[in-house]
Amino acid sequence: MNLLLTGGAGYIGAHVAALAEREGHTVTIVDDLSTGVAKRIVSPVITINLAASDAVEKLSTLMRETKFDAVIHLAARKQVGQSVEIPEQYFLDNIGGLANLLLAMRQENVKKLVFSSSAATYGMPTLDLVDEDYPGVPINPYGQTKLVGEWMVQNAANWGLKGVNLRYFNVAGAESKRLADTAELNLIPIAIAQLKRGEQPIVFGTDYPTPDGSCIRDYVHVEDLAKAHLMAANYLTTPDQEYATFNVGTGQGASVLQVLEELKKVSGIKFEEVLADRRPGDPPRLVANTDRIERVFGFKASFGLQEIVKSAWDAAN
Ligand code: WQD
Repeated sequence: MNLLLTGGAGYIGAHVAALAEREGHTVTIVDDLSTGVAKRIVSPVITINLAASDAVEKLSTLMRETKFDAVIHLAARKQVGQSVEIPEQYFLDNIGGLANLLLAMRQENVKKLVFSSSAATYGMPTLDLVDEDYPGVPINPYGQTKLVGEWMVQNAANWGLKGVNLRYFNVAGAESKRLADTAELNLIPIAIAQLKRGEQPIVFGTDYPTPDGSCIRDYVHVEDLAKAHLMAANYLTTPDQEYATFNVGTGQGASVLQVLEELKKVSGIKFEEVLADRRPGDPPRLVANTDRIERVFGFKASFGLQEIVKSAWDAAN
């Protein structure tokens, strides 16, 4: 397939691009390089800020020059904490960027879209394993932009768009040093960076209603996530899509303390984590029900927590 990949110079995007190219797809990458890193990818980056006033015209020109079979849209701001500080910018970039992309696709008759959504759309779920029909209420602007994005994809069906929303759980790991997650924004890269600076990782809260008191998340390897994107693009080539939204996770939970225990094993550093107060807005548990993606795509995560933590540690050293 001829794929347009927005955000393809990002940590996740670069893994999707690498797998797509290995599988024989043609990939064109659009990225504004605000957080993406050009050296992560071999193909040239077409620099477009999707939220800018000239984005529709630039995207339409690109789509006229190249007949894309599908768009995989990952370009977005994704920091929960930052989204609380600058919500307007998150709505401008995440919603405005998607709106411009959809306007260009509609204009140029590009009718297949894989949309990068998030488990953050669920807010504070009370289920052990959260399924896609759970009536989530996002609790931060980042999650709100992802839920609104899903509605926009759904509305575009009116002009013939076929869209799939992938709700990422906690993505980590790396295929290589070159593709490593260099931003210190999530538990595993933060803890690894702290160890490399001789600091102790910090646990935000050990008084949650969980077995060891720390928060439980569903950590999914970025290579498994990349695989899910190509399965989603392929799903859009089938005549009808029964579902629009899929969780991408392992269905297995791991606590912060368990993740840090894995990090002690792979790093060989017997560090003492600092036990700190809760961070506002953290659900005690957020683990995917993966029945739908397993049944419809035949997707099953290949990597568990140990491989995720080891690949992240190896890519950082
Ligand atoms: C995980 C757990 C922290 C750092 C994020 C975003 C979004 C989404 C999923 C894509 C929490 C704890 C963290 C630290 C800690 N991805 N923690 N010490 O908040 O689950 O969700 O990833 O859409 O990016 O919603 O991820 O890695 O920030 O935190 O104890 O130094 O680790 O409190 O319980 P989160 P996270």
